[in-house]
Formats: sequence, structure tokens, C-alpha cells
Amino acid sequence: MADSLREHLVAYFEEHHRLVEAGALQLLLAQSHPLLVSREVVETPGSGSPFVTVEMVERAIAAREPPHPSALAGLKPAARREDVRVEIPFELIQEGFVGPPVASDALAAYSSLFQSRYRSLARLLRGRPELGNLRPIAALRSGDGPASVIGLVREVRTTSKRHHLLLTVDDESGSLEVLVPQDSPAAKTSFLPDEVVGLKLQPAREAGKLARVLAVERPDVPTARPVGRSARRRRAIFLSDLHVGSRSFLSESWGHLVDFLRGRGPLAEMAAEIEHVVVAGDLVDGIGVYPQQERDLAIADVVEQYAELGRRLSELPSRLSIVVVPGNHDAVCPAEPQPALPAPLRAALPANVHSLANPSTFALHGVVVEAYHGRSFDDLIPAIPGATYARPTDVMKRMLQMRHLAPIYGDRTPLSPLPRDGLVVDPAPDILVTGHAHTYGADRYRGVLLLNASTWQAETEYQRMRNISPVPARAAVVDLTNLDLVSLDFSAGDPVSLGATG
Ligand SMILES: [Fe+2]
Ligand SMILES: [Fe+2]
Repeated sequence: MADSLREHLVAYFEEHHRLVEAGALQLLLAQSHPLLVSREVVETPGSGSPFVTVEMVERAIAAREPPHPSALAGLKPAARREDVRVEIPFELIQEGFVGPPVASDALAAYSSLFQSRYRSLARLLRGRPELGNLRPIAALRSGDGPASVIGLVREVRTTSKRHHLLLTVDDESGSLEVLVPQDSPAAKTSFLPDEVVGLKLQPAREAGKLARVLAVERPDVPTARPVGRSARRRRAIFLSDLHVGSRSFLSESWGHLVDFLRGRGPLAEMAAEIEHVVVAGDLVDGIGVYPQQERDLAIADVVEQYAELGRRLSELPSRLSIVVVPGNHDAVCPAEPQPALPAPLRAALPANVHSLANPSTFALHGVVVEAYHGRSFDDLIPAIPGATYARPTDVMKRMLQMRHLAPIYGDRTPLSPLPRDGLVVDPAPDILVTGHAHTYGADRYRGVLLLNASTWQAETEYQRMRNISPVPARAAVVDLTNLDLVSLDFSAGDPVSLGATG
């Protein structure tokens, strides 16, 4: 584990164009929160140094705020230097939600959100050989040779005659309109509003003409990245969209899951290796989420729904560590990133539950997991040609290419104007898990395991109306030593293994 973690940290700094000195690495490895401290070193502004030194790590450790109370249950006392081989079962790396907005007016708050997004993603793109002669937009001159810019896509249009793309991109120096010829390789992947891209350009030959895009470079996930691994065989099970309180909650299938986790039935050996449960949101059905929802509710009171959720989760063995994030049906502010459940609701859940924000990034025995409910599917699926609810993992690949979970502003996913864009995907996870689509999907992209973790709600009248056919009562069991996956179906008694994809 220490070796795997060491590689993981080196790769993380490398992605941020930093070289970590041996002593600094040693000090990080001796921390109880090595990934969290590393992230803080990278995010500390002001240091243009390409190196990460012992002093920088010491400063980050000293500046650390006390950990989120929800993380306390998983904390171990800080490891001593000679203790580096101790595995950390649960490390909270970051929660997407950081405090309420600080700016006094909404416009300033949103502008600092987009500035944060631009800076975080531009940092990943800067220095790439594909983006030679990188310039601020304001420094581009017509008649120059090829140059590159990093821009936030403000607008995407199509020319009426030849269906070329017209993009308006912004950076901190200005704004630029560019042409993407229809037949160019850069036009193969659609551009989404508010994503950050690197563009290699042929500047206009004369003033008044448009620069042409020669190639596009997205932040993406590095290839051949070492993934986090547990040293000993342990597994995690991924679930989503329980919708407790709904008339359509599948209590019978849930009972099969409880039996499995308690070691009854043919897969007892696998169940005994499961140490973690992750639930990717829509924990309860909520109230007033869609028109006439009360017809679909078995429990009409939201506090009672969480009490029932607490009872359902306490049916699972108490040795399990359970991480939950909220979704759009939960009783927190719907704007993303969403904060963790408020304390009175958390109090209804058993003590082995870590209630985190949506999204959140954490490590399970060194395996970095990002859990995001997936509300942005509602915006990304209509915006990406060919994308469907039946294949949410295709959209998740796109999220990784953009290194952003919900870029589109002003559509169905409300965004909260926080000073830091908590929907940027950094660090790159080993496992990205979502829900919301109520289907089941598993895929891999550049070494990242992508999971859309099904639902425990049968089809509702409202979904029938909207032509959504759920794939319920499935779960993904992942071996944390090698990220091998077993997909299980609990809809008919003992779990049926669907193999590696399901
Ligand atoms: Fe849901
Ligand atoms: Fe949802």
C-alpha cells in the first residue's frame, strides 16, 4: 500500500507539473491524510516553484483546518514516520461543497465560481506539448503563426451554410470567436457550454477574419496512471438511489441485499470481504420533488423518511463503513455542490454512516473514489449527440475528459456560486460512481472504473410518463486490490452475478 500510495502521490504532483522531493514525499506518506495534504499543497497559491519541498508540506499540515466531523469516525491517530505501512481505511480528500457563497452579489459570486473553474482546469492543461506557443487571448495577433489558448467555452453555434462550428471562448485576458471547420478532427467531439478547453489555432490572416481551430486538447485523465490499491483483499459495494419512503421502494430486493451482506447464501465468502458501502444519492424519495409526488409516497413526512432510511441502513452489518452523499431528492439545497445532510437528519442514521457532500472525493484503503449523484445527466444527455440514459457511463467518460461533473450553467442543474468550483474533478479518481439515471452501467476509461449504481425504486407513474425504464436492485462489488468488478442482481432472491459489466 505504501508503495502504491507513493506512486499515486508522485503521479498526482506530476499531473500538476510538480516534482516532489524525497523528504517531502516521506513526510506526506507519514500523514493520516496524505492525499488531502497533497491536494492542499497543490492548491496553495503563490508558489511558482516546480518542486514540492518539505517546508511546503509542513506549511500545508500546519494550515489544515480540523477535519469535517463526519470524517472523524474513520480517522486513525496520525501515523508516525516509521508507521507508513499502516493502511488508512477511510480518508476524506475533499467535499465539493465549501461554505456558503462569500461574494455580496450574485454576479460577483458566479464570476468567482467561473474564475475558479478556469484556473483549476487551465492548470491541468498548461505546459502540454500539444499547446505550443500558449498565449493569453489578448496577446493573439492576426497574421501570426500557430498559437494556443486555454478558454472557457461561452457559446457554441453552427454556421448556417456549411455547418462549421463557431465558438466563443474566454480567458482572464479577453474573449475570442473561433471557427472549427466541420471536417476538422477538433469537431469530432462536441463542445459543451462552460467547459474549459485548450485550442491550437491558426490566427486569422487579416484583421476581421476568424482564427481557425487546428486541434483541441481537453484536461482529461492521464493515461497509464498508477491506480490506488489496497494491499489485502477487501471489497466495497456501490449502491444508489434508494428512494426510501417511496411506495415503489423495493423492500423485498433490499431484503435480499441485507441477507447477502449478512453472509447468508451462496456468495457469503465475497460478502465477508466487503468493508465499505457507498451510496450515490437520492437516499430518500423526498417531498415535492416533482408534480403530485404525494401519490407515490408511502411516507409523506421527510423526517420520517430519514428515520426509515436509518432503520434500513442499520439492517446492514454494523462492521461496514457506509458513505452516503445526497441527491436531488434529498432534503438539502438542490444547487450543486450540495452540502451533506444537516445534523438533525444525520442523527437518524447509524453511527457507521459517513454523510458527505455531493460530490465528494475520498479514499478507501488508498483507492480514490469520487461519488457524484449525477443530476447533470439531465443537461449533458440532451447536449451530447448520441448520449442516452441507458448508457450513463458514456457521459461519465465525457465528464472525465472535461474533468468536470456539471459544466453547463443555467439549465436543469442549478449551480451554487461558491468561491471554489467543487465540481471540478481533481484529483483524478480510481472509481467514479454516479446514480440518478436509475440504470446500471459499468465501464472503464483510462484506468478509471465508471459505475452507475442502479436504484432500489421500481418504475413510478411519473417515470412511465417520461419513458424512463429503470434497471433496479443491482449493485457493483469492487475488489480494492485490483479494481476487479462483480455486478450483482438482487431482484429475485439470492444475488445473481452478472459478471464484470452487468
Ligand atoms: Fe433517483
Ligand atoms: Fe436523482
